[in-house]
Amino acid sequence: MELAGARTLVTGGAGLVGSHIADLLVDAGVDEIVVIDNFTRGSRQNLEDASRSGKVTLIDGDIRDVATVNRAMDGIDLVFHQAAIRITQCAEQPREAVSVLVDGTFNVLEAAVNAKVRKVVAASSASVYGEPSYVPIDEGHPFNNRTLYGAAKVANEQILRSFNDMYELPYVALRYFNIYGPRMDVYGVYTEVLIRWLDRIEAGEAPLIFGDGKQSMDFVYITDVARANLAAMRSSVSDDVFNVASGTETTLNELAAILLELMGRPDLQPEHREERKVNPVRRRLAAIEKAREMLGFETIVDVREGLQRLVDWRKTIKVLA
Ligand SMILES: NC(=O)c1ccc[n+]([C@@H]2O[C@H](COP(=O)([O-])OP(=O)(O)OC[C@H]3O[C@@H](n4cnc5c(N)ncnc54)[C@H](O)[C@@H]3O)[C@@H](O)[C@H]2O)c1
Repeated sequence: MELAGARTLVTGGAGLVGSHIADLLVDAGVDEIVVIDNFTRGSRQNLEDASRSGKVTLIDGDIRDVATVNRAMDGIDLVFHQAAIRITQCAEQPREAVSVLVDGTFNVLEAAVNAKVRKVVAASSASVYGEPSYVPIDEGHPFNNRTLYGAAKVANEQILRSFNDMYELPYVALRYFNIYGPRMDVYGVYTEVLIRWLDRIEAGEAPLIFGDGKQSMDFVYITDVARANLAAMRSSVSDDVFNVASGTETTLNELAAILLELMGRPDLQPEHREERKVNPVRRRLAAIEKAREMLGFETIVDVREGLQRLVDWRKTIKVLA
């Protein structure tokens, strides 16, 4: 799909991934970027850069509201569907989870069909894989997920597939692994372990690791995730799913060591506490060949470089606060 001159909609566009997609859409020369976001998270500030282009129309609205979604979709060619609530919030508010992730996604896709949208790129998640049966996790790996959030993401992929067959709505779903980088929510209730550690290290306290710290993640830097979205939209590929990851494994122990070094506190030793059963998945390591071969996508920012950028960005927002 050609991006130059296209009219685009980004759901959840005030959030982490959505706002970075908006930045890249400006660079790609799209005509219009409509953002729908209800500010559960996200912020207007995240869209400041993209808004300078004069191409952003922000709709403060909810994807659960059919009329608002239809209004946002009017005249749109290409959709990037990012709006969702976090895995932790899904566990605490299961009805909210299903209404936003399942019904909301249905609303977006139904409106896309009615508006004759040419393609949808939608956010899925590595959560669909649950505890890995093998690594690296390729796209054919079974859905071992046992969370409601993951269940809703599986449902999203299946609804996309059914809409492809029922209405010939082209789509690509992207299974993001562990995203980090500037515009991560540093103040929210559901902040990631990474941000909590940065806060502690800054306060001269050791990062807390629940368990042995051997649990691993496949970190992917935010601008790489946004690039993957544009690559998926541009490509002729449809009706398919792709991992979006760096293809490298970082344990919590390694992550803590890198952060302590980057923040100039190698003297602090992480404190281990008894494991909490919040996230039972022990390993994350993605196979990235499919995205490379079919979308021409691979990450360019490695974890050290990305964490350095995150630390630098966080300093700038602390100054502004
Ligand atoms: N961040 C990660 O590590 C990660 C990993 C895997 C998948 N994902 C998925 O990627 C997508 C983007 O995640 P993110 O990290 O940018 O999250 P985010 O919370 O920063 O962005 C999501 C945005 O959606 C908005 N939103 C929530 N409910 C809404 C509703 N009912 N109507 C309209 N807007 C609503 C929020 O206000 C927020 O701005 C989500 O679908 C998420 O499930 C994220």
